[in-house]
Amino acid sequence: MDGNGRWAKQRSLPRIMGHREGAKSVRAITEACAELKVKYLTLYAFSTENWKRPHKEVAFLMNLLSHYLVKEKNTMMKNNIRLLTIGDTSKLPLGVKTELSKTIKLTSKNTGLSLVLALNYGAKDEITKAIKTIAKKCISRKISPSKITEQTIADHLYTKNIPDPDLMIRTSGEMRISNFLVWQLAYAEFYITDILWPDFRKAQLVKAIEEYNNRDRRFGGVRNA
Ligand code: IPE
Ligand code: MG
Repeated sequence: MDGNGRWAKQRSLPRIMGHREGAKSVRAITEACAELKVKYLTLYAFSTENWKRPHKEVAFLMNLLSHYLVKEKNTMMKNNIRLLTIGDTSKLPLGVKTELSKTIKLTSKNTGLSLVLALNYGAKDEITKAIKTIAKKCISRKISPSKITEQTIADHLYTKNIPDPDLMIRTSGEMRISNFLVWQLAYAEFYITDILWPDFRKAQLVKAIEEYNNRDRRFGGVRNA
């Protein structure tokens, strides 16, 4: 979800106004995904690198997140949405952690869209943690190194039980992955648009999905093999 700052700058507004408008896109895209019967929507809301931002901006983002969780509970229930997170949420402010666990518990039985918020998420952090856990299990002989498979690694990532994404949408035209789901995106289709996140709404999502539907996914094979 990139481009909030630039959206604000274009209007000579403070960056936080861009985040506020971006939160409206979060609502619109989540509802559109529920409506379109998308099964999983993962939103990269806060990265392990985002702590480098000015304290005030980080505080605003955390506050926005708590407010969002409080406000969206009913909509999530109404739309049968299940909330999940990936990332090291233990480092988030207490208020955010409390709201998160409340909403996760409340929505845990919902069977529609799974909304996965990536919070204090970094792919390198995720892979490092997985390797540490696997190494410990090898030492304690719970896992034999020769038996490690791709599935073993996948099972130790934050995304265990979450399927790999089919489509990765990047807004604001940046041509980089920015430490997002490095392992899981191995065969995802990429869709990069110059549209800034606050301007990315249902019509733009539909366009991305339509383009995805026309992609020829071969997963390293050949067509009509
Ligand atoms: C939002 O966009 C990303 C978040 C961390 C919420 P940015 O804040 O990165 O916007 P730009 O890149 O400055 O335009
Ligand atoms: Mg950015």
